[in-house]
Amino acid sequence: MTDVTKINDVISLERVDSVALVCIDNPPVNASAQSVRAGLVQAIDAANADDAVEVIAIYAAGRTFVAGADIREFGKPPLSPSLPDAINHIEASAKPVISAPHGTALGGGLEICMGTHARVGVKGLRVGLPEINLGLLPGAGGTQRGPRLMGMKHTLDMALTGNMVSGEDALAWGLIDRLEDGAPRDVALAGARAVLDGTLATRRTSDLPVTVDEEALAAARAMVAKKMANLDSAPMVIEAVERSTGDVKEGMVFERECFMACLKTASGRGMQHAFFAERAVAKIPEAGATPRPVEKIGVIGGGTMGSGIATAALTSGLAVRLIEISQEGLDKGVGFITKNLDGAVKRGKMSAEKRDAAMARLEPSTDMETLADVDLVIEAVFENMDVKKDIFGQLDKICKAGAVLASNTSYLNVDEIAAATSRAEDVIGLHFFSPANIMKLLEVVVAEKTAPEVVATGFALAKKMRKIAVRAGVCDGFIGNRILAYYGKTAGYLMEDGASPEQIDTALENFGFAMGPYKVGDLAGLDIGWANRKRMAATRPNEERYVRIHDKICETGAYGRKTGSGFYIYDEGDIRPNPVALKIIDEERAAKGITPGDFTDQEIVDRYMTAMISEAARVVEEGIALRPIDVDAVFLFGYGFPRFRGGPLKYADEIGATEIVKRIETYAKDDPYYWKVPAILRRMAEDGSTFADLNDK
Ligand code: 3HC
Repeated sequence: MTDVTKINDVISLERVDSVALVCIDNPPVNASAQSVRAGLVQAIDAANADDAVEVIAIYAAGRTFVAGADIREFGKPPLSPSLPDAINHIEASAKPVISAPHGTALGGGLEICMGTHARVGVKGLRVGLPEINLGLLPGAGGTQRGPRLMGMKHTLDMALTGNMVSGEDALAWGLIDRLEDGAPRDVALAGARAVLDGTLATRRTSDLPVTVDEEALAAARAMVAKKMANLDSAPMVIEAVERSTGDVKEGMVFERECFMACLKTASGRGMQHAFFAERAVAKIPEAGATPRPVEKIGVIGGGTMGSGIATAALTSGLAVRLIEISQEGLDKGVGFITKNLDGAVKRGKMSAEKRDAAMARLEPSTDMETLADVDLVIEAVFENMDVKKDIFGQLDKICKAGAVLASNTSYLNVDEIAAATSRAEDVIGLHFFSPANIMKLLEVVVAEKTAPEVVATGFALAKKMRKIAVRAGVCDGFIGNRILAYYGKTAGYLMEDGASPEQIDTALENFGFAMGPYKVGDLAGLDIGWANRKRMAATRPNEERYVRIHDKICETGAYGRKTGSGFYIYDEGDIRPNPVALKIIDEERAAKGITPGDFTDQEIVDRYMTAMISEAARVVEEGIALRPIDVDAVFLFGYGFPRFRGGPLKYADEIGATEIVKRIETYAKDDPYYWKVPAILRRMAEDGSTFADLNDK
């Protein structure tokens, strides 16, 4: 016989003979919100009080088991019961409790399972301790029960990488006891019956011994020192795991203290902001529009960009027609794509069969007319408005009705490109970042007449290609490159005024950027910015301070890595400052009568970040970005911005508008043309509001 009791909105208790089935139903991902925690405690108590119940089994409804603590509760006053208390209550249950996780059991979700007396996973299960990605550490017993179930090494690996692990691995490591096929409720019920008939053993995880694994601890310490120095929570993971050999209760108190401390660190706040940024960008005005179906796309241009886009599209299962003017260019493009896919196979990211299937979906052609049947075209030729207009004029005649016509331009006016067609509503900017088969960001540039379903198609395409799409308005450089063009000048001014490219790079790398701006410039190719500056030369105002160093370096034929030298010399893995570049810097300083000054690393970071924030504020003010968090996402996923800082405008909130305005006003004393206080920042300084307030609107 069965009867179901609703404990509260999210937890129900069903009795099937002598089994109590506890169901968690808190969509979308069953996060362990207060109602879940309180409901679990009540359900365990009710089942224990029911004489007819012999075994309790916890499972979840919906697409996944508990995906972790409710991140939205972080930073708010703690609500009772805490997750560790709820889990301890489950573990202390007099009657055996098992769990039957399906989908993903992550963070607090996995910790709930660890607290039950046996675990039967549903096939397809993936488990993980992703707290580190939020700047945290497991905070509900994961560092104490993890080593007792699967040893220190696997616990450290999971908690420090945040990577998900398959149910099969979890089974092999002892983290779960069984892996079964079936619906979660059925697996939970069968597991409970196995406990009843003695075929599934139960025990309290806290009672199990821990073996010290010095080798794993040492390896973790070395990894954290090398790669995770900026994350406060990383060394705490190791210390907490190390303490798991002692008293469980004490270990859990220590773990919880670390967890609560991490919630308050800037790195924790930054990482959590980055998590939400990744998701917030999908909330666009066109979200309700139906995307047009896209199965076959055209890519015009077989250069680095075009072939990168084609690679990403092929990898995601799309068919691609690659167009180049000459056979030679086409062969080169196909060569790039082959190399990219082979690289993915070599790195273990793709099977050889998948690569062969992807290559079979590639149709190279020198004939634009073959684009007649594609659902979407991405033009990725060089940045020249006349060339682009000519191509879009041709596409207008060739492409079928309803095809989306996209430009991968990184700066140019998409309205003007759209005007070269008779169907501006189908035209959009899809700005990929190089290397397009690797970089996560896609700026979806919405022109004046772009139809909502075309915008929705851009976002759907990004999702299919596993990219993060950010909606941008039309302006020179859209969100990212516009801001880059602005703060890049600050770096130039700092260099001309006395800081070396190496000092600037090092200061910013210590701040957290993967690479300083001069190393990035060398990697991307200095000639790209040079071409853009030449394009803009005619419109450059007289008042503007113009740094000629980059142009002069380009004039020597040094374009960066691809030519073996730029700001640095690249010599078989060895990188050192390029004396030619340093000589040009000296000459330019002399020509302008500048006596080089000394800058501290902090001064460099402050000026650079203040410039970035100023232009980012203007981009928000003008509505080019929908919200501040969209700018943050662009920098996190396209410009190597340190994730633990959350993004430039999250960082701005950490500093505060008053301080930023003060800095701009100080810098403006030397260069009032460049340094101006954006109105939005002035207002924030006055009324005490933040960029976060704008995200919430
Ligand atoms: N808390 C609150 N909301 C959450 C959440 C969580 N832990 N995890 C996901 N969500 C929300 C998302 O913000 C999103 O909301 P939206 O629709 O309003 O934007 C919605 O759930 C769906 O999420 P996704 O779009 O990411 O859905 P996917 O199906 O692509 O992915 C997932 C599902 C793999 C579970 C993914 O959401 C994920 O990785 N979530 C984070 C898991 C995590 O970090 N857990 C650890 C939390 S910290 C913790 O547990 C501390 C503990 O040790 C004490």
